[in-house]
Amino acid sequence: MAPVLVLGAIVLMLNLASISSAQPHHGCKTRCGDVEIPYPFGIGAGCAIEQRFEISCSRTAADGIERPFINYWEVLSISASSGQSRVLMFIPTYCYNSSTGEMDSYIWDFYLVWPYRISNSQNKFISIGCNTIGYIYNTEKSTRYATGCVSVCGSPGDLKNGSCVGVGCCQNTVPKGLTSYHVYFYDVDYVDVSNSWHFNPCSYAMVVEAETFTFNSEYITTKRFNDTYEGRQPVVLDWVIGNATCEVARRNRPSYACRSENTVCVDSSNGPGYLCNCSVGYQGNPYLSGGCTG
Ligand SMILES: *[C@@H]1O[C@H](CO)[C@@H](O)[C@H](O)[C@H]1NC(C)=O
Ligand SMILES: *[C@@H]1O[C@H](CO)[C@@H](O)[C@H](O)[C@H]1NC(C)=O
Ligand SMILES: *[C@@H]1O[C@H](CO)[C@@H](O)[C@H](O)[C@H]1NC(C)=O
Ligand SMILES: *[C@@H]1O[C@H](CO)[C@@H](O)[C@H](O)[C@H]1NC(C)=O
Ligand SMILES: *[C@@H]1O[C@H](CO)[C@@H](O)[C@H](O)[C@H]1NC(C)=O
Repeated sequence: MAPVLVLGAIVLMLNLASISSAQPHHGCKTRCGDVEIPYPFGIGAGCAIEQRFEISCSRTAADGIERPFINYWEVLSISASSGQSRVLMFIPTYCYNSSTGEMDSYIWDFYLVWPYRISNSQNKFISIGCNTIGYIYNTEKSTRYATGCVSVCGSPGDLKNGSCVGVGCCQNTVPKGLTSYHVYFYDVDYVDVSNSWHFNPCSYAMVVEAETFTFNSEYITTKRFNDTYEGRQPVVLDWVIGNATCEVARRNRPSYACRSENTVCVDSSNGPGYLCNCSVGYQGNPYLSGGCTG
């Protein structure tokens, strides 16, 4: 049996005291390093629509560059018009240990809390490896879900760049409303696990951004998949305002987040809550008064 090392449960933990802000006050920073932080998000107290939309902006010790974070996840971008944020999440790995002849798992558990959900439209579940069953599951009652993804290969010559159909790479869709998941690895051929490990040191399985993921044969033969973002990969999160539908939210004017003229309210397609958008022909930030301009 392979030793399993559960490295960390990443939980988004935030203060319960809520400092909300109908509009950001003057002097709120709107950028962190190279990343724009649009309202309803904000950096620091009184700058976000409510506390769970606060983004921490910290200078990384290695290069001194400011970077935005949601808990442990570095934020790559936030879009006020699509209601989505791109973040880097840690990659669960399953590697052959040549000194023990066994597989070592480094598994991360993924937990999100309101207002975030894993985008079902922008991500997919992938598994990479030559003797690999990546198994993903969620035991929460409301979003129970499990699926597996199997990939095999006999030699590096079997692999095709851009092809993720069960040879070295397998992909599957993600259900709506997913807020947490666990990953586990199994071997396809568990009798002789060392068979492919002389050319395939590690397997991976996780939910990743679909648009930027393209299978490369080097993901099998090197550690490039893990090394590209220092052990992380981009994932798209959907976020929502409140938990109500547009119809209900509109009736409660003081807390209704679509502040600009020329906005439309859109019910989230991925669970409870709503989003704001500028009306057709207008552009800008619908959460700011006067934000949508023609
Ligand atoms: C807002 O409108 C833009 C442009 O029509 C569209 O691309 C985007 O998906 C819309 N956002 C939502 C949350 O519906
Ligand atoms: C292989 O396993 C041994 C014993 O558990 C451990 O000390 C070592 O760090 C492992 N090697 C790698 C590369 O993880
Ligand atoms: C895939 O692309 C990489 C470069 O990104 C190249 O080194 C490799 O040989 C290609 N693999 C195949 C099977 O064509
Ligand atoms: C993946 O990258 C991280 C960060 O650089 C590193 O700590 C970890 O050991 C790497 N894992 C593997 C299997 O290469
Ligand atoms: C929405 O629901 C979640 C979980 O039920 C809760 O944690 C969150 O505070 C709610 N948000 C609002 C604005 O009511």
